This record gives sequence, structure tokens and C-alpha cells, in this order.
Amino acid sequence: MKLCSIIGARPQFIKAAAVSREIAQQPNMKEIIVHTGQHFDANMSQIFFEQMQIPKPDYNLAINSLSHGAMTGRMIEKIEEVLLKEKPDWVMVYGDTNSTIAGSLAAKKLNIKVAHVEAGLRSYNRKMPEEINRILTDKISDLLLCPTDQAVKNLKDEGIGKHSLAKIVKCGDVMHDAALFYAKMARKPLIDLPANFILATVHRAENTDDPQRLNSIFKALEIVSNETPVVLPLHPRTRKIIVQQQIETRGLLLIDPVGYLEMIYLLQHCQLVMTDSGGLQKEAFFFRKPCVTLRDETEWVELVENGFNKVVGSNFDKIITEYKTMKNKKMNYDIDLYGNGTASENIITEILKL
Ligand code: UD1
Ligand code: UDP
Repeated sequence: MKLCSIIGARPQFIKAAAVSREIAQQPNMKEIIVHTGQHFDANMSQIFFEQMQIPKPDYNLAINSLSHGAMTGRMIEKIEEVLLKEKPDWVMVYGDTNSTIAGSLAAKKLNIKVAHVEAGLRSYNRKMPEEINRILTDKISDLLLCPTDQAVKNLKDEGIGKHSLAKIVKCGDVMHDAALFYAKMARKPLIDLPANFILATVHRAENTDDPQRLNSIFKALEIVSNETPVVLPLHPRTRKIIVQQQIETRGLLLIDPVGYLEMIYLLQHCQLVMTDSGGLQKEAFFFRKPCVTLRDETEWVELVENGFNKVVGSNFDKIITEYKTMKNKKMNYDIDLYGNGTASENIITEILKL
């Protein structure tokens, strides 16, 4: 069986690392990796392939830094060329980026089966580009690989699989597989790391592209940093905007994006996570740290329902209040929300069945 994995953004390299390792163990499976090029800085792409030993992509389409339409359109065109040449049995797409929707659309128009890893996630906020990408990808996928019960429920509520042969399966979360596998290899970043720090990240379009929201978040983080050091690996999108808009960041320890092994070290040693990242909300839980989410909603609702995560949006007062509450919150993390680290194995078993 020939399977073509389409990846392009940082979180997809991390998810694919877990699944590709599993594919490599299958004697009857051959993986072709297509990197769309969406993320391209060495510390947003290459470092993950090196640290996580992801096989070198067979194709790099070098498509990035464009508007949604231009980026997705060019990706579809180039992915189609690769698929026509390689003729895979399956295309595997991950998450909810422009690379995800481009990969699934290109494949389905060629009548190639699509497996969607991290299917069924919903924020129910259609202003998010990611929500559009995941709704459309789920609608046309043949195998919907869900990380959680909630994701399965979301798809069933939308009637997915009702009028097609699409199969919905709960497999667990591949990011949990990755966290478990790489935890022992954690690496201290080459910076002077303060004790008991907060690990923060900000990159979501709804925050970076709204000056009021971005200002409010950074003002709040500055106030927090008067009491507790804040370490913030900065996404290039956010760095550009902070410079353009001259946003004040004096009290914060801003660093360049780090590799996954350094990120794990930061997760292991921080006292609290404050983020608008999707993946990091779950990783906070994997590494038993409370999380304050700088968004108005989250797809990972089970974290909120169980008290591990507090969603605060960009409101200055809420951020400060919940930082104080969550920082000292002691919780029992012994609850199975994302499977037991065998999601990748479950995914490959499902594909081999069909
Ligand atoms: C994308 C995903 C988002 C995901 C995030 C993970 C979409 C619509 N968004 O957002 O869901 O959470 O990746 O990090 O697909 N840039 C660089 N160097 C890089 C990568 C990006 O300078 O290595 C710059 C680009 O030039 C662009 C900006 O960052 O100006 C945004 O990049 P883009 O890939 O469009 O979206 P992300 O914000 O990274
Ligand atoms: N991450 C990383 N280095 C960083 C910031 C994040 O390795 O400097 C990892 C993080 O641990 C998680 C993933 O990147 O595994 C999350 O990606 P991101 O926040 O860019 O995207 P999202 O999950 O929001 O789509």
C-alpha cells in the first residue's frame, strides 16, 4: 500500500513524526512525504525533521507567505501533480491548516482515499480559517481519525458518514504519542532560564491580526511578568506584527521558536502555560501543568470541563485573574482524555483494514 502524507506547518511535523514512525514498521506500506513548504524557517521546519527523525520529504513544494486563496490554490495544483505521478492508495492529512484542505481537496478530485488525522475538532467559530479547513476536510474524508469522544460526537451531530461510506473511528491523540515518546529526550534551551516561569505562546490569527486583542494580551503578560517570569518562544507571524505595531514587550523573555525537544523541557519545567495554540493546550495537560487559553473558545473542551484549562480570550482583567487562580491550582491529572499513546498504531491498523 502506498500512502502519501501531506504536511506543511509546525504542528503537522510533530503529529506526522509519531505516525511516520509507525508506518516505517509496516512491511507492506510505503510512505511518500509531501511538505507543502507552508512553514519554512529552519526553526519552524527543518529542526523538527532532524530532532524527531522524520524521513526527509520526497517533495517540498515551497509554497508559503501568501493569502489564503493563493496559498491553498497553488498547493492544490502542485499536490495534484505529485498525486498524479505517485498514484498513492491513500492520502493522509493532519489537523486544520491550509496544507490540510489543499491535500484533501487535491486527493478527492482524483478519487484518492483521504484519511484525516485529528478529525472532528470544532470551535464553532467560523471566523477561524482553521474551522473552515477542518469542516471541509471532514466532509470529504473517507477515514475520520478522531482523538476524542467529543470529536466523534461532533462528526455524528453533523451527519458525517450518514450518506457516504466514510468511517469515523476514535484513535486517541497522536500528540500524546509524541509527548510520551520524546519526553525522555527533552533538551534545555540555550538560554538563562528563570525558575518557576510561565511558558507562553501567541500566534493565532484572531489575536495577531486584531491590534486591540494583541495589545491587551501583551499588556496582561507584562503585568504577569512583574510577579512571575514569562518565557515566550515567538512565532514569526507574531514577531513581524509586534515590530510593525511597536507593541511593548519589555518584561517578557522573548526567544526564537525552539525545537520540540526544547519545548518539552520548557513544558516540564514551567509552572503554568498561557497560550492560544491548539497543541500546547493538550501538552500542558500531558506534562501536568495548568493552562490559561488566550482565545474565546477551544476545540479541546474536555480540558476545560475537567478544570485543567481556563479559556479567557484577550480580556486584560480575565487574563490576570485566571493567571492568579490557575497558577496555584493543584489537580489530579490521572484521567485518560487522549488515549494511552497508541493513537498512531490505531490509525495504521484502521487504514490497513480498509
Ligand atoms: C498556520 C496555520 C495555523 C497553525 C499554525 C501553526 C493556516 C491557515 N494556519 O498559521 O492553523 O496554528 O500554522 O504554527 O494554515 N512565517 C515565517 N516563517 C515560517 C512560517 C511562517 O516567516 O517558517 C510567516 C509567513 O511568512 C506568514 C506568517 O508567518 O507571513 C503566517 O504564516 P502562515 O503559514 O500563513 O500561517 P500561521 O500563522 O503560521
Ligand atoms: N512548538 C515548538 N516550538 C515552539 C512553539 C511550539 O516545538 O517554539 C510546538 C508545541 O510544543 C506543539 C506545536 O508546536 O507541539 C504547536 O504548534 P503551534 O502552536 O504552532 O500550532 P497549533 O497547535 O496552534 O496549530
